[in-house]
Parts: sequence; C-alpha cells; structure tokens
Amino acid sequence: MVRKAGFGMCGIVGITGNENAVDILLNGLQRLEYRGYDSAGIYVNSQDGKEYLVKEKGRIDDLRKEIGEDVHGSSGIGHTRWATHGVPSKENAHPHVSADGRFFLVHNGVIGNFAELKATYLQDVKFASDTDTEVIVQLIAKFAKEENLATKEAFKKVISLIDESSSYSFLLMDNREPETLYVAKNKSPLLIGVGKGFNVVCSDAIAMLDQTHDFIELVDGEIVIVKPQSVTIEDAQGNIINRKPFHVDTDASEAEKGAYPYYMLKEIDEQPTVMRSLIKHYTTDDGSVIIDDALLDSMKKADRLYIVAAGTSYHAGLVGKEIFEGLAKVPTEVHVASEFGYNPPILSEKPFFIFLTQSGETADSRQVLAQVNKWGYESLTITNVENSTLSREATFTLLLYAGPEIAVASTKAYTGQIALEAILAKRLGEEKDVSAATSFNVARELTTVANGMQELVDEKGQYEQIAANALATTRNAFYIGRAIDYDVAQEAALKLKEVSYVQTEGFASGELKHGTIALIEEGTPVIAIITCAKTAKHTRSNTQEVLARGANVINIVSRNLAEDGDQIILPDVHSLLTPLLAIVPCQLLAYYTSLQRGYDVDKPRNLAKSVTVE
Ligand code: F6R
Repeated sequence: MVRKAGFGMCGIVGITGNENAVDILLNGLQRLEYRGYDSAGIYVNSQDGKEYLVKEKGRIDDLRKEIGEDVHGSSGIGHTRWATHGVPSKENAHPHVSADGRFFLVHNGVIGNFAELKATYLQDVKFASDTDTEVIVQLIAKFAKEENLATKEAFKKVISLIDESSSYSFLLMDNREPETLYVAKNKSPLLIGVGKGFNVVCSDAIAMLDQTHDFIELVDGEIVIVKPQSVTIEDAQGNIINRKPFHVDTDASEAEKGAYPYYMLKEIDEQPTVMRSLIKHYTTDDGSVIIDDALLDSMKKADRLYIVAAGTSYHAGLVGKEIFEGLAKVPTEVHVASEFGYNPPILSEKPFFIFLTQSGETADSRQVLAQVNKWGYESLTITNVENSTLSREATFTLLLYAGPEIAVASTKAYTGQIALEAILAKRLGEEKDVSAATSFNVARELTTVANGMQELVDEKGQYEQIAANALATTRNAFYIGRAIDYDVAQEAALKLKEVSYVQTEGFASGELKHGTIALIEEGTPVIAIITCAKTAKHTRSNTQEVLARGANVINIVSRNLAEDGDQIILPDVHSLLTPLLAIVPCQLLAYYTSLQRGYDVDKPRNLAKSVTVE
C-alpha cells in the first residue's frame, strides 16, 4: 500500500452538452480550490474538430489567464492536482494525454502498481510526465490501438489490471467521441450531476451546484458513460444499473465568502448559527430531542462506545467521551483512526462505533468503518456532508447542518460535532434514565452557548492584539489545561500550528513539570485554558511554575472562575459544554497569528481539506 501521510484530494470536474464548458469547468475547479492543489488543467472539445488542452502550475487564476478568450468547447474535463507522483509542474498537471493524442484523462487517487504496468506494457512509449496517471491513459491508447478495442473495452481492460491497493476516480475522453465522458471509481469519491440537455461529473457536489442540485452516486467498480442526454451505469458484470439521483439542498452561495476576507473567519463567525441550526434540527419547541428510534435502540444495547476519528474530529471525540460518560453514563473510548488498525482495542461484548468526520471521506476513518462492517457491528457517522462515503457505509448518520466548511482548518465542524454529541448523549441518557441527562435541557444549554459564542466573536480586536503581542513572532507555544480543558488545549494547539506554523503543543498542565517544562524560556507563550472548576486551582499553579521560568502566560477562563489579570474571559455555560466556548478565542488567535505572519490562512501549506489517502 502506498502511504502518504497528509496528502489530500485532488479535484475533478467534467461536463458534456453545454457551450460554456470552459467557464463551467474553471468555476467548478475554483470551488474545489480550498482543498489544496499545486497545478490545474482542462481539456475541452468544441465538437467541430477543435480541441484544447491547457495546464498550468499554480492557481486557477493563472490557468484562466493562460486559457484566454479563444478556447471554447461544449464538453471537457478539468482537474486540480495535489502532487503525489512527480513534482508540481505543468507537465505533471492533468489532464494527461496519450502519445497518439487521442485520449485525455484526469485522475484522483494513487495507482499502486503503476511502475509494474509501465514496465510490462509501455517500454516503447515516450512519457511526457512522471505521473501514475499517464501510465493509465497510455495503456488505454495501447489496448485501443493494438487490440482494436472500443474505448469502453480498453478502459475496462486497463482497470482490470490495476491492483487492489489502488484508489482512483477516472474521467476519460476520446476525441473521436467528443460528447462522451467515461467514468470509473474505486475508493475515491465521484458523482454524476444530472442536468437538462447536459450532464456533469465532479469529485464534490460543491463544484457543480451552479449547474444542478441532483447527483447520482457511483459504486466502486462501475463504468459510467455520460452523454448530454444520458447517463449509463454498468456494474462490474456489465449489467445496466438504474439509480435515482439524490438532491443536494446546499445553496451554492453558502459556499461563498461574501464580505469576509477568509473562509476561516467566516466559519468561526458562523458557529453561533451552527448551534442554533442543530437545536432546530434535533429538538422540538418544548425542548425534547428528536433522534431516530432505531439509532437509539442500537446505542442503548451497547455496553461501550468507540469513537473513531482523525485530527480535529478526534479532538471533538475527546470531548465527546466526557459528554457520553457524563450524560449517558456509558463507558466511551476515543481512537485515532489511523492507529486503530495496528492497535485495535479489545472490544467489549456489545460495542457501538461512532465515526466523527466533517468531510465523511477521510480514508483513515473509512478503513476502520470497513473493518467494523466486516465484524458486523452497527455504527453511526456524524458528518457535515450528506451522502458522503462514511455516511453511506455506516448503519446510521447524523448530519451537522453546518453548511460547507471550506477553510482547511476545521472550526465550525468541531463545535458542531461536540454540540451534536451533547444532543445525542442527552437523548441516550434520558432513555437510560440517567438523572444528569433528564435534568439537562440541551436546547436551552446550547442556546446559552450560541449567545456566549456570539459575545466572543464580537470582540475580535482583543484576540488580534494578543496574537500580535504574544504569537506573531514566537518560535513555539503551549496550550495547557486539565480534564476537559486538556481536550480543548489539544485542538487549540492543532489550530495554531496548522495555520501559523508555530510549533505548538497541547499539554496536560500537570505533565509539564515531568520534562517538557525544559522548553520554557523567557517569553514562551503558554496559554492556559481554565473552565473546569475541579482543576482550576491546579492549572493556575502550573501557570505559576512556567511564569517563574519566564513564560508569557495568557489565561482563557470561564467568568465564574476568573481572577484579576486573566486576559480572556468566557461566558459561563454548562460544565460539559465549556469547550464550545473555550475553543473560539483559540481559533481566532490562530487566525490572526497566521495573517500577522503573512500566510494564506485558508490554505495552509502541505494540507488539504479531505485527506482521502491513507
Ligand atoms: C484540522 C482538520 C483535520 C481534520 C482531519 C479529519 O483543522 O481539519 O485535522 O479534522 O483531517 O477530517 P474529517 O473530519 O473530514 O474526517
């Protein structure tokens, strides 16, 4: 298995049957920009014998300039590339073209056995790039020519030679059939968007919401032939499959930045709205919680919950453990998805799995879910993306209704996940007659949270100032806390490091003195989170230890625990929900530090939004 920690997902778009193909492809690629990429390209065919292949290293705007006014077509394919095989360059950008100039291909994913395929079949072919993708398009051309195969047959034959470890979504064009798009996927997301007199293909619905809201999901192993008036899906055995489109409600404008300079700021500001939207979707006016009975029955039977997630979602899981144990009294374990396979826990007799995932596409989490399905256990995916892979493959899904999260650094999905865990734990605890749950009015508590968040985001100036004083030029930083505050410290540290590149640790404050305190120097920023009444005194004494060694201490404290000199005061909320407020100043500190250091906060280096490669 090819392993690429931290590599992300490229973007794919395609269209047939619209004279504006160039604009539609470019606008679609622009909507996928946030996922991170280093080069882009399109191939368009005008159906009157003219075709254009334009690729560029850098941004879509650079590609747009390169394309200019003269390029036009009514069908085409486009791609944003995130380098895996071969450096970021014009040559390695997609679409790739076969040596005979007939076939054009874009590809997301990784072909595990590309080197073997190249050595076995393509010794005599001159390659124009270093990519695994070019091997595939050259092979299609070879089989089409030498074995006189129709395009679909050549495509199928090549797919049959790709090894099990590979992941791909392919979008292929043959310039002898300029209206036809050939499509196939394995372990990599791809959708067909259905229009009137035209059809589109995309790796994420968001790319094509300007064209259609009706999408057909594809199953691994299918071959799909897309023409302006038809979409034909064949399964691996060649049977024709009829599958109805699903409707995506998201408004294309929700994915726009509007007046905001960056998506990250917009998404931080949207958090009060996300709280209110969750209350609206999951509770009634009288405060009762609406959760599907089948899900509750399944969770009620469980003797232990296993939360599996990655990155920020994993951190939301850490808080979830406190919430499920506090409100529903059910033992809960939290696991990093990428570690689960190597170090699986000894499962309880009746486990229930919860996958937390903003995107619903994270490969590490998908692998664990596949294993859980093999074991035959039931599972729930909590996600922001309807119809995402993890949603489809789990027994149950709960949606965050947070609107698209575009900035690479996750903010509103984190708070949305925690709030939804609280809603679910309340309902589960109620079923089990746990008094902590019956007396917990989740709608009211989350309303208080929403109001508190609003107060915090309305005071941006102070975070900008603290970032300028303490973080803008520092080499490293610490977030510390105990108990639930330690959970937040870990997420706060991830936020700061991923967008500002300041080496930051999230630390259990009592653990500092066991070694790490050696890193504290004159001026080292140490940000203490103090919202937990039980541990407040102890965390404060840890701040004294680092103060004595010259640290620049900044306290983020709940109002009821505040003391003179504390810099950031949080409105009071229920003790299990304090992370929802404590994280907000930390997100804003990360945001301002990134800007002050001169970085593109929405697209941090080396990162991508959905990590669909293991
Ligand atoms: C950090 C961040 C990542 C994701 C992680 C999992 O800001 O966004 O750590 O949380 O890659 O992604 P999802 O939640 O989509 O499974």
